[in-house]
Amino acid sequence: MDWEQLTQACMQCQKCELAQTRTNVVFGVGPKDAEVLFVGEGPGGQEDLLGEPFVGPAGQFLDEMLSIIGLSRKNCYIGNIVKCRPPQNRDPAPGEQEACIDWLRMQTKLLRPKIIVCLGRIAAQKLIKEDFKITKEHGTWFEKGGIRFFAMYHPSALLRDIGKRPDTFRDLKKLREVLLSVTDDPTRYEL
Ligand code: URA
Repeated sequence: MDWEQLTQACMQCQKCELAQTRTNVVFGVGPKDAEVLFVGEGPGGQEDLLGEPFVGPAGQFLDEMLSIIGLSRKNCYIGNIVKCRPPQNRDPAPGEQEACIDWLRMQTKLLRPKIIVCLGRIAAQKLIKEDFKITKEHGTWFEKGGIRFFAMYHPSALLRDIGKRPDTFRDLKKLREVLLSVTDDPTRYEL
């Protein structure tokens, strides 16, 4: 499957019950040669309406975080564990995550990112390890199948709890350091 076919197939997805209540499938955003892939948990209300990830308040904060380290929607890819909004913004259920994860796997295969950044516990537990502890293990590097994995607090958690921001600032600096050491073109991330 190429990118276009994957997008078309995903837009029609009926693999779980979230398809019944969604307005839009939120496929993801960013260039197809992105070296960094950010993964959140699932679309919220704004994302569902607009069909784009992280466009509500948490998304605005994410954009600010990214800009600190020379990243934006133009030079990294942003997606979610589930592509349809869970009603009332509840956590996506394990069955919904499992039904959806192949879309992200196929996106990852085509994108071939060097780094995957999990935003929050849900993404880290799905992509890094089941018992991932976000308070203890954010900012730690993991390696799987030739890809570097890293987790940070979810931007919504940072909006709620200012006390988590200094840790995240340090994590962003770590992320930039490794990104600059693995990139094919450091000029993509100039500040
Ligand atoms: N929170 C997420 O995890 N993903 C989004 O796309 C928006 C908010």
